[in-house]
Amino acid sequence: MTTIRINTPIPGPKSRALSARRTQAVPRGLSHGTPIYVAKAQDAWLEDVDGNRYIDFAGGIGCLNVGHRQARVTAAIQDQLGKYLHTCVQVTPYEGYVELAERMNKVTPGKFPKKTLFVNSGAEAVENAVKIARAYTKRPAIIAFEDAFHGRTMMTLALTSKTHPYKAGFAPFPGDVYRVPFAYCYRCSYNLKYPSCDLYCARHLEDTFKRVVANEEVAAVIAEPVLGEGGFVAPPSDYFKVLIDLCHKHNILFIADEVQSGFGRTGALFACERYGVEPDIIVTAKSLGGGLPLAAITGRAEIMDAPSPGGLGGTFAGNPLSCAAALAVLNIFEKEKLLDRANQLGERFQRRARGWQQRWPIVGDVRGLGGMQAIELVKSQEGKIPAAEETKQIMQYCYEHGLITITAGSYSNVIRVLVPLVATDEQIDEGLDVLEAALAAVCDNKNAVAQLV
Ligand SMILES: Cc1ncc(COP(=O)(O)O)c(C=O)c1O
Repeated sequence: MTTIRINTPIPGPKSRALSARRTQAVPRGLSHGTPIYVAKAQDAWLEDVDGNRYIDFAGGIGCLNVGHRQARVTAAIQDQLGKYLHTCVQVTPYEGYVELAERMNKVTPGKFPKKTLFVNSGAEAVENAVKIARAYTKRPAIIAFEDAFHGRTMMTLALTSKTHPYKAGFAPFPGDVYRVPFAYCYRCSYNLKYPSCDLYCARHLEDTFKRVVANEEVAAVIAEPVLGEGGFVAPPSDYFKVLIDLCHKHNILFIADEVQSGFGRTGALFACERYGVEPDIIVTAKSLGGGLPLAAITGRAEIMDAPSPGGLGGTFAGNPLSCAAALAVLNIFEKEKLLDRANQLGERFQRRARGWQQRWPIVGDVRGLGGMQAIELVKSQEGKIPAAEETKQIMQYCYEHGLITITAGSYSNVIRVLVPLVATDEQIDEGLDVLEAALAAVCDNKNAVAQLV
């Protein structure tokens, strides 16, 4: 039995009516990947207000690795609902917060003593990681990467790379942020090839310390182990080891932003594990809360204790419902084979996508780590000019035919897969069939798609 069920033209009449209301009531700055208004969701599918059913390859942008409305997550939330909703942890603390901190300290990479702080969103967590790193090192500067995405608040926008639509028009941003090229091998900023490059991009940090910012001024280097919004770029396996050794040589902290790459997505609980590295501070969010807003900053105990009492916190930070949901998420990862599943999904995607790459020159790169997979679309495999318009057309074809996908990349030409890890093989194949049909429609029948858009 298929999961996808499309009964109306997309968007259907009820979604259209809601879109009209939304245009009047909500600022245009909040954009939507699709014009589909959701009525309910379960596991790896969602249904719209017109009764159409879709396979969800977006997972609320990577927040639903354990699936929509996972039974143990909703049970934990229900249980907490019967006790209390909010007290503010800074006023009357509760066990769920402490227990979750203990669990995070255990499951994050590194056997050293750790402490964890909870906040509400990925951006808020990155902000706090920067505060903590500065308080500990007593240094101001932060080094971030090209194609990085760390959030939409002012400090995280300073760290984020992509100009439109994220940064343009919102300056000035906080200072003391310096940007260097990432290990984006498909588009190497130095025009080199791995492995003969000998990880020049990582080693070049020494040069940055001479020509851009003095190493003794740098509090931390912050990186996503696999770029999320930047296009699912997974650096070579030895990259982070070289980078972190360099940081530590200069007493600079390494902050891993695992907001998108974390919680099982890459086939390990954290992508850092896939690289065999232990960050000084690790930032998590998204799938940590199983669908509720929650983010964590976990780090070496002595680093986390640098800010004075009262220096960290937030009214709703680490609220009881989110902590209960996250404890259930951790239990699920402990008991179920979701990490293996992430790898299986990744392999399934890669097999299909490599075939597409042979068939259609638009598929320039197929890449990812575990279940964090993507294709980068280009005008031609030789020229690598980003095919942003075609990417949009493919996305539109997909949602009109029952597959929710999202794009990524500094050039908006990457289609990424963040399907809940509980998706069945049949659902994955059904979703990939739609994506394949979309590629065929755009590549083989350009006129038909011109009418579509
Ligand atoms: C790597 C990374 N860091 C930070 C953020 C910001 O998280 P939030 O949207 O929860 O503020 C995101 C969001 O996509 C992300 O992918």
